[in-house]
Amino acid sequence: MALFLLEKRLAVCASMVRKGAALADVGTDHAFLPVWLAKCGIVPKAVASDIRRGPLQRAACNIEKYGVGSIVEPRLSNGLDGIRPDEADDVVIAGMGGLMISDIIKRAQWLKDSGKHLILQPMTREAALRSSLAEQGFCILRERAVQEGRHIYTAMLSCYDPRKVDKSDIFQYIGRLSPNIAEDAEYMKREMQRLWKHANGLRLEGDEKRAAELFHIRSEIEKMLLHEGEE
Ligand SMILES: C[S@@+](CC[C@H](N)C(=O)[O-])C[C@H]1O[C@@H](n2cnc3c(N)ncnc32)[C@H](O)[C@@H]1O
Repeated sequence: MALFLLEKRLAVCASMVRKGAALADVGTDHAFLPVWLAKCGIVPKAVASDIRRGPLQRAACNIEKYGVGSIVEPRLSNGLDGIRPDEADDVVIAGMGGLMISDIIKRAQWLKDSGKHLILQPMTREAALRSSLAEQGFCILRERAVQEGRHIYTAMLSCYDPRKVDKSDIFQYIGRLSPNIAEDAEYMKREMQRLWKHANGLRLEGDEKRAAELFHIRSEIEKMLLHEGEE
């Protein structure tokens, strides 16, 4: 069976998985990511997990269709509850809301091991996820924005290392994205619009102090974009 192309969002997540790593794909649905990584010889072992039976059935069908049953195991699990630490060096959680991703991470204390990598691709509430990661001692090693149609997403590679955590206000909003990369810059512009809207809302509610903080973060992002290309 010829191998399919991963959609861009998942391709960026796949590029962050280490060769030879045992993988857990949490909320796998169709299992495209672990199937693709197994077919490419990147992961020797993977658990494709989902909380619902319907998606897990889809995962099982694709695992069989692409002949990777000896590598990828479909498994019913709420978050990482049903996955042992020795089964996952790299954990992907993609296509869910940032708050749900943050809850799943909080429930699996064994992720607080610097050897484990988390590859996270939130669909919403990215700032809340970044700040929850920081609170728990997870740093972000790398991050890339991905544009698909009208949507722009971010994918981040994180690991437990409290010394490297960036707790600055601006980091919450743009993480490790770079103004020198076109899609990252687009994400930063969108974040500026969100901050503008949020700050104006706060001003109307009378919270001048927080509004001023958000306007300041917005102008810091703008400065980064204006000085794009400079070291
Ligand atoms: C939108 S799909 C994302 C599929 C794939 N990861 C992707 O990014 O294309 C989200 C999947 O997460 C599953 N899910 C939601 N909450 C979950 C949880 N707590 N534990 C495991 N899976 C969960 C859903 O059943 C669904 O199949």
